[in-house]
Amino acid sequence: MNILGIESTAHTFGVGIITDSGDVLANVKDSFTSTAAGMIPDQVAQHHREVAETVLAQALSSAKMDWNDIAFLAYSAGPGLDPCLWAGYHYAKLWAGQHQKKIVGVNHCCAHLSIGKIWNKLRDPCYLYVSGVNTQIIVQEDNKYHVLGETLDIGLGNMLDKLGRILGLGFPAGPKIEQLAKQGKYLQLPYAVKGMDVSFSGILTKVQQLYEQQKVSAEDICFSVQEVCFAMCTEVVERAMANTGKQELLLVGGVGANQRLCEMLQIMCQERGAAFYQVPLDLAGDQGAMIAWEGFLRKEESGDVEIKPHWRADDV
Ligand code: ATP
Ligand code: FE2
Repeated sequence: MNILGIESTAHTFGVGIITDSGDVLANVKDSFTSTAAGMIPDQVAQHHREVAETVLAQALSSAKMDWNDIAFLAYSAGPGLDPCLWAGYHYAKLWAGQHQKKIVGVNHCCAHLSIGKIWNKLRDPCYLYVSGVNTQIIVQEDNKYHVLGETLDIGLGNMLDKLGRILGLGFPAGPKIEQLAKQGKYLQLPYAVKGMDVSFSGILTKVQQLYEQQKVSAEDICFSVQEVCFAMCTEVVERAMANTGKQELLLVGGVGANQRLCEMLQIMCQERGAAFYQVPLDLAGDQGAMIAWEGFLRKEESGDVEIKPHWRADDV
């Protein structure tokens, strides 16, 4: 059985095709980028509408398939930006109607987790999910996700993107911050772990002030923000693993592309005799294959759920 998945929660419009054993047959995406501001939801949704049919055609052609080979469609029902979710839902309904297929709405966050789990063939990992909007430490018990810790304000990726706006780096800023950080040195910044949760907005305010007072370089800011924020996440993840006894850590979400974050988590896992896993770059960010796989896992319990902009992984 092959499942086609549509992703459109934020900047990326993606169509992926996966088999019922988790083999990715196609994964085509087109992401909104901007050299100026961040994401303006209506502009992003317009981008999705402009690229949707082309992305679909490319996905089918790269899998060497047509609609007869597709069992059903999965789409990202949330969480995400309203206009972007509606754009994805529109194409799910349209294409399903044109080709008489069932649609299955899935949770985008759970899709990030489940694609990482199947790709690495893990049994029972602790997840660190760090993307634009989300920063969560998650475990699964009795087929239900539990969030053990999370950001109290903005997600780590959004924080990096906001920092990028302050520094004039364009969007998305994470990769540019990672490059600049390589030339930076350490500045003292607030360290904000509260229980099992973290908070990033105070750190952002602090570096904004320092930068506007022209006291520090962009490189030093990037380096220090990475060191402090990644150390905060690593600390909380370590505590979650100690408390739950999990022996596998899986890093998912777009910020997981950052090599320095991976290095810190790898060291932490090594020190406690646990194993650290990542998701390959093409499956780490937003894309359709993960939506297709989550759709396969949820095909009995979900269906046309319209959109759910604030849907949490622990509400699934
Ligand atoms: P969500 O899953 O919460 O809906 P999303 O759609 O915002 O997330 P992803 O595609 O998972 O996000 O991640 C995008 C984020 O990853 C952006 O904030 C981007 O700046 C960040 N990012 C990408 N590459 C890197 C990197 N090398 N270092 C740090 N951050 C990065
Ligand atoms: Fe995502």
